[in-house]
Amino acid sequence: MAFETSKDVLDWYEKQERTLTDEFIDSIPWSEVRSTPLDDRLIPVLLYMRDVEVLTEMYHRELRRTPTGRDPVIAKFMERWGVEEVTHGQIIDRFLNEAGHRTPEDWQRQTHRGVPVSYHTSTYLLTSLTNLLGSCFTATHMAFGAIHEMSTGQAYRRMKDIAAHPVLSTILDGIIREEAAHTHFYRSVARIELAKCKAAQKVARKVVDTFWRPVGQGSLAKERTEYCIAMLFGDETGEGVDVLDRTVTKRAHQLPGFEGLDKTTHRFRDICRRLYPITTAASLLFSIDLYAVV
Ligand SMILES: [Fe+2]
Ligand SMILES: [Fe+2]
Repeated sequence: MAFETSKDVLDWYEKQERTLTDEFIDSIPWSEVRSTPLDDRLIPVLLYMRDVEVLTEMYHRELRRTPTGRDPVIAKFMERWGVEEVTHGQIIDRFLNEAGHRTPEDWQRQTHRGVPVSYHTSTYLLTSLTNLLGSCFTATHMAFGAIHEMSTGQAYRRMKDIAAHPVLSTILDGIIREEAAHTHFYRSVARIELAKCKAAQKVARKVVDTFWRPVGQGSLAKERTEYCIAMLFGDETGEGVDVLDRTVTKRAHQLPGFEGLDKTTHRFRDICRRLYPITTAASLLFSIDLYAVV
């Protein structure tokens, strides 16, 4: 589907119905969660996914200070995007509790409070600087977002395959559908904006080459990010990283100005080589919490 303007993309997005409605959530066989065992090493990954999702509220707040925050089309998309991502975090938290991994009631507040001050300071500076980029920032933000959404979608797919848990699969299928719609929005608007001028392509590429980090790193501890990547994409043959390369990096190459991007694949491969295999003992470090229930 080829769109001519970002408004066309928004119109398409608004026609997509939500998957994770209240009815969908109520129809999940929650009582069957404990019937299938869950690999303990996946707990820290689910906690990480949950935290990244609910921190979208914070990312959304930061983005409102940038040129795209003042773009009525993108701002409208971000309103719904922000709500959908938070639902993803909340449903993952419910799954964890149903599976027997109790989390504190105020876990959302604790997740927000755990973000380091250094993150807030550098983000404030960066979002202020985006105003210097003007319209080039739209292309940059959309390209950045497309890469983040694509890698998030792949992380959920890997989680589904590795966990092989029927109830979690139902939940993840719903999340993956919504992530796919986000990806389509970001990629489509990125294509339109990048095609407008070479300067936008150069700026976007430079920003991604310089600042791209896996989703959540920075607002959450780097060790947690790396644990998740090694757990989801690490294996003996390197096949997991090859999948990431095909489904994220190679797709990003299709964006104008992004030919030959290799930072994403290199970063994932480096982490997997260093940390694979993940042991149950290593997983304890990240699952005992964080926010211990007392
Ligand atoms: Fe999400
Ligand atoms: Fe998303």
